[in-house]
Amino acid sequence: MELQPYDILRWHVAAGADEAIGETAVDRFATSAKAVPPPRPVDAAAPEPRRVPAMPHAAMPHAAEPGTSAHQAAEAVDLAALRAAMEAFEGLPLKAAATSTVFGDGNPEAGVMCIGEAPGQEEDRQGLPFVGASGKLLDRMLASIGLDRQSAYITNILPWRPPANRKPTSDEVAACLPFVSRHIDLIDPQLLILFGGAAASALLARGEGINRLRGRWFEYSSPGLPRPIPAIATFHPEYLLCTPEAKREAWHDLLMVKKRLEAGHQN
Ligand code: URA
Repeated sequence: MELQPYDILRWHVAAGADEAIGETAVDRFATSAKAVPPPRPVDAAAPEPRRVPAMPHAAMPHAAEPGTSAHQAAEAVDLAALRAAMEAFEGLPLKAAATSTVFGDGNPEAGVMCIGEAPGQEEDRQGLPFVGASGKLLDRMLASIGLDRQSAYITNILPWRPPANRKPTSDEVAACLPFVSRHIDLIDPQLLILFGGAAASALLARGEGINRLRGRWFEYSSPGLPRPIPAIATFHPEYLLCTPEAKREAWHDLLMVKKRLEAGHQN
């Protein structure tokens, strides 16, 4: 998607940055681009997919019977295997109603991993996350801190569209959680951005709503990760489309991400 300067300007004005305080314009693209670490270097000629050993059976959750998502996910040693396991999974009626298994988009080598709720109609049609109206806003939000689909990786808690875009049930989230958790193990990002209450409460295992969870750093841990990963929640772009006044808080959260990436870059 090609972003026009006007799109970025509209995003800033809606977020409350509606006053010029300098005589000369600051090139935010130049400063943002400097601030964000480049994706990890990959050998462009022969990129090697990251492989993580299958989780030992003793480390699997108790419910990890063969055929369950926990079992299938734990056995996936790379992204291709995880995608195949999700495409072969027959444990959720939701999947039968969906056109696509919406796996992920962006750069698997990126340091930033974004996680939303579930595909909508356009995502189901194209088989890619965040390509509809809320995806366009997500792209603008990422661009405002110098990120794009080359410097970030994007997925959802549910890979299948709930009929009529209804909210996922807690059983559906529980069934998909082992897949998204393994997805995080395999990407092994520097930080996670969780968009909306469904992603935040599922991955942070917290009961509070998004208003209480957003704008704070948490640590996400999993037996398949070498170390805990910093995670921050913010409002879902879909919510921001209906509630533009909340963009101010989302902008605050995104600046926290930018600061953290800059600090990590200097270390
Ligand atoms: N909303 C989401 O949470 N994810 C998508 O991929 C699209 C809309």
